[in-house]
Amino acid sequence: MKAIVFHAHGPLENMRLEEFPDPAVGPEEILVRVRAVSLNGFDPMILRGIPGLKTPLPMIPGADFAGDIVSVGSAVDASKWRPGDRVTAMPYIPRVGMMGETLRGGAAELVAVRQSQLIRMPDKVSYVEAAALPTAYGTALRMMVSRGQVKAGETVLILGATGGVGTCCVQLAKMLGAEVVACASSAAKAEKLKSIGADHVIDTSKQDFVAETIRLYGKPKHWGGGGVDVIVNYSGGDSWAQSFRALKRHGRLLICGATAGYDPKTDLRYIWSFEFTIIGSNGWEMADQVQLLDMVADRRIRPIIHSERPLAEIRHSMQELIDRTVFGKAVLIP
Ligand SMILES: NC(=O)c1ccc[n+]([C@@H]2O[C@H](COP(=O)([O-])OP(=O)(O)OC[C@H]3O[C@@H](n4cnc5c(N)ncnc54)[C@H](OP(=O)(O)O)[C@@H]3O)[C@@H](O)[C@H]2O)c1
Repeated sequence: MKAIVFHAHGPLENMRLEEFPDPAVGPEEILVRVRAVSLNGFDPMILRGIPGLKTPLPMIPGADFAGDIVSVGSAVDASKWRPGDRVTAMPYIPRVGMMGETLRGGAAELVAVRQSQLIRMPDKVSYVEAAALPTAYGTALRMMVSRGQVKAGETVLILGATGGVGTCCVQLAKMLGAEVVACASSAAKAEKLKSIGADHVIDTSKQDFVAETIRLYGKPKHWGGGGVDVIVNYSGGDSWAQSFRALKRHGRLLICGATAGYDPKTDLRYIWSFEFTIIGSNGWEMADQVQLLDMVADRRIRPIIHSERPLAEIRHSMQELIDRTVFGKAVLIP
């Protein structure tokens, strides 16, 4: 089969489309012909190499994909899964690893997955839409709903709202009845955030997100009032401590990552004096992914697709992620 492969960590040039052996299919496994695979913010990080994460090489990237069953292993329930079925998969296998990180991913013509990972696609959901959902939208759903419990009437500030996780957070917050302030690093992306439902947008290339939030809601006071109820901050870095100045007393800070740095300088005084709750969120459940597919089938949310390119153009899509010119999800078609 043809697959995107990197044999060593490093720059984008290390990632190539090449001939690679078809995956071996074990008795509990299913061979899927990939029709669409999407990229995530962590794909360039994994290619470069993440300290503390051991990626076995050669690696095929791509956690999130959708396609058709080609064949099933001897121990697979053949009454449930048949060649031709439209499927997607949970890329994370508990206690084993994550596809594209420690297990080979779906940026290839074929991929083998365990029966326990497979999810049937509703007819009304396209391959591109299903491939866009798992990691970004799954993580957003868990962070905003199960962990963050965002409610109607709350005000929610979302930093880095233009990416995969962010565009889903905007839509979920609106669906839950919250008022959304969404941040982007360019005027063009800020305008697009309005088109997916954001009530207010902040262009961080020109505006200070703390000053703008205070302009909208007032300065947070120790006795209550001012600021927003919830801040979604997976950017980290300098924005981490700055966020504290825009959060209301008893506010919640939701975090699932640290794109701009995991060890920022911080100011602990805000946490106790404003009685903040910091809520971490990691991954998602298979049930979240099934729920998201139903939400897309009913058009309650829509995956925001930045681009659909041939698999061979993966470097172009990865470069756009690095350059922060992506709005939503970059999808590749084998
Ligand atoms: N814990 C989990 O289970 C889990 C799962 C998925 C993702 N994550 C994490 O969640 C975060 C978002 O993931 P994603 O896939 O949505 O990424 P993404 O598509 O790259 O989006 C991230 C957004 O953050 C902004 N950004 C990019 N680089 C930045 C930088 N150096 N400094 C500040 N802002 C930057 C960009 O928006 P602007 O340019 O418009 O600001 C970008 O659109 C990442 O940190 C990722 O590792 C965690």
